[in-house]
Amino acid sequence: MDYAATGQEALSRIAGASDLDTLEALRVEFLGKQGSISGLLKTLGKMSPDERKVEGPRIHGLRESVTEALTARKDALETAALDARLESETIDLSLPAPEQPRGSVHPVSQVMDELAEVFADMGFAVATGPEIEDDWHNFTALNMPESHPARAMHDTFYFPDRNEGGREMLLRTHTSPVQIRSMLDVVKHNPGGAPLRVIAPGRVYRSDSDATHTPMFHQIEGLVIDKGIHLGHLKWTLETFLKAFFERDDIVLRLRPSYFPFTEPSVEVDVGYAYEGGRRVVGGSGDAPGHAWMEVLGSGMVNRRVIEAGGLDPDEWQGFAFGTGVDRLAMLKYGMDDLRAFFDGDVRWLSHYGFSALDVPTLSGGVGTPA
Ligand code: PHE
Repeated sequence: MDYAATGQEALSRIAGASDLDTLEALRVEFLGKQGSISGLLKTLGKMSPDERKVEGPRIHGLRESVTEALTARKDALETAALDARLESETIDLSLPAPEQPRGSVHPVSQVMDELAEVFADMGFAVATGPEIEDDWHNFTALNMPESHPARAMHDTFYFPDRNEGGREMLLRTHTSPVQIRSMLDVVKHNPGGAPLRVIAPGRVYRSDSDATHTPMFHQIEGLVIDKGIHLGHLKWTLETFLKAFFERDDIVLRLRPSYFPFTEPSVEVDVGYAYEGGRRVVGGSGDAPGHAWMEVLGSGMVNRRVIEAGGLDPDEWQGFAFGTGVDRLAMLKYGMDDLRAFFDGDVRWLSHYGFSALDVPTLSGGVGTPA
């Protein structure tokens, strides 16, 4: 029998199969249980040994070439299917980039990054605490017991329900509760205490709203705990910080005695400034001609009772703390005059006052180069 013609026909039909289903149907037709080539193989059993010697290799050869052709065609069809899929799922990376970069870093984020950079250089770590606080961390531990008049001055947002511990819950009115949390945390890891240098930037809330007050605003807290800390350390730290932040050497501070329940003594810090081109520019003494003083910070030596609430022995550990408004610092440095615009989300304001995401504040590169 002439298998060449059968083989030719099978191979050309396999080569012509245009999809995997057709190919599978051909495989069944030739090699399946009832397949034509399988049928030929069965005829070998009925042949005489001499006949089989001749026909055997030919039939097996036919089966082999058909099997190879099926495999080759299957590979080709699968490759073509993959190519088609890759073709249809490509992204055109050659699309032009937007002419103007969209989006910018908000001045509050920028100033917080600048502050973290300035303080990191002085060895301060960044600490955080919850915005939903309890009245013990926000007030009591900071030497403001329940009846303390200073509590009333904070215009606090309270939650209707107490927490599991029976404490009243509130939106923190300042970042000072992070002082307590940082001390408790350091004691947990170092019983007996350890030096501590942290800043705590974050959101705070007071029920207050006009051109210079928004119900949510940003503060940054600083806390240093160590042995033998005194007011001189506080003054040097604030002076170094303000000079680095405003990027000027002529920053002059005025320390005024003040009162905060959590510091004793307490000091309010003013900086000298003058009007230049219609806006406040810090620098020089507030007593110099054309200059005035402006309050920028609250600070003081950490009250003994606060150190105790933080789990430390005030005879062994002393410290200073300060707190200031991040939004106000941003306004002073970058010349905005309405606080409310900070939180309006107006794209025109954001693109005017925003910073490039690529312009990361560093001491070497300058902590605040406007976009
Ligand atoms: N927590 C004070 C405020 O919100 C600021 C402050 C912080 C003062 C630390 C002294 C020490 O006004």
